[in-house]
Amino acid sequence: PPPSAAINLHDIEILAEKVLTRTAWAYYRSTADDEATYLENSSAFRRFWFRPRVMNKISQISTTTTLFGLPSSLPVFICPAALYRLGHPDGEMNAVRAAGQEGIIKSISNNASCSTEECMSAKLPGQDLVFQLYLNKDRAASEVLIKKIEAQGFKAIMLTVDAAVPGKRELDQRAKDEDLKEMPSASGNSGSSGMGVSHAISGYQDPDILWEDIPWLRRRTKLPIIIKGIQCVEDAEKALEEYGVRAIILSNHGGRELDFSPAPMTVLYELYQQRPDLLKKHEVYIDGGVRRGTDVLKALCLGARGVGLGRPFLYGNGVWGEEGCRRVIHIMREEIETGMRLLGVTSLDQLRPELLSYMDKRLG
Ligand code: FNR
Repeated sequence: PPPSAAINLHDIEILAEKVLTRTAWAYYRSTADDEATYLENSSAFRRFWFRPRVMNKISQISTTTTLFGLPSSLPVFICPAALYRLGHPDGEMNAVRAAGQEGIIKSISNNASCSTEECMSAKLPGQDLVFQLYLNKDRAASEVLIKKIEAQGFKAIMLTVDAAVPGKRELDQRAKDEDLKEMPSASGNSGSSGMGVSHAISGYQDPDILWEDIPWLRRRTKLPIIIKGIQCVEDAEKALEEYGVRAIILSNHGGRELDFSPAPMTVLYELYQQRPDLLKKHEVYIDGGVRRGTDVLKALCLGARGVGLGRPFLYGNGVWGEEGCRRVIHIMREEIETGMRLLGVTSLDQLRPELLSYMDKRLG
């Protein structure tokens, strides 16, 4: 079917399962252990309900904002995810092109299957790309990479800290990592392991990534530093106040790392309750389980600056390539706009806690 036949992100996921290879589906869909976190990431949004305002002038609305200081047409960015080429020969370049056409930010994974040169060549003039970094056990190799991506014009470094070791991803482990042989990742693989794709690509990553690595990184780059993978209030405070990073992303890696890590929306709610000042002063993002425009609006009502989506883009890319990635953005745009109108707001800065309740408790 054409991309327009998919009317929501669930439709795209169902098609992806049908058309992707077994290895690709297993790698993309895989989650840790019993997928408690994966399922909770989405269900957490169901505990928040709107308190909509009616009879406002809402025909003209705007969804534009800045994310990580970069202009964006939506409060949505494309998460870094490895190996887009398992789903389509043009790989990450499809997501870069779609992001450029639609005016949103794409973060390129350290384990991308397209080189950073390819990603840069696929972008539009003026389009901003962010680079997601895993620290290499060999810090000298990380330094070389940092210099390279800086010179290439990436606008920020997103340091992922929730994947010290790969989570136990059983779907991925059961599938073979055969398809990976033709898939040298941009950063260099450690080779097939028989443990699934995740293990095969992550051998260079340093399990001992430490807080001191943030100042280490800051001494080596002028780019803004974003920390991805914060999972509790204490670490959010530490990253923003003690280590002064530009932004944090509350994330559990889409439920692929520690099972029973809380949903990012739950951590955001705790931040809202315990440190609302932090949310006002700093940029806090969430990702994981975002599948509806209303999910995005709820996160923004609690004080998030924006949200990231991971798997929907891998799925859209696997089914239709660039057009599939664009379809994901179109669906989100339409749902966000409809949600804003029905909630009674015309711009993102009007989203506020008063428009939400948590279970039966009024916020704001
Ligand atoms: C990821 N994610 C990820 N994160 C990261 O920082 N570097 C990476 O290379 C990858 N690779 C990756 C591969 C695949 C197949 C998935 C599904 C995810 C995590 C990603 O950035 C994001 O946190 C989650 O995907 C968000 O959850 P949803 O939207 O997939 O539910």
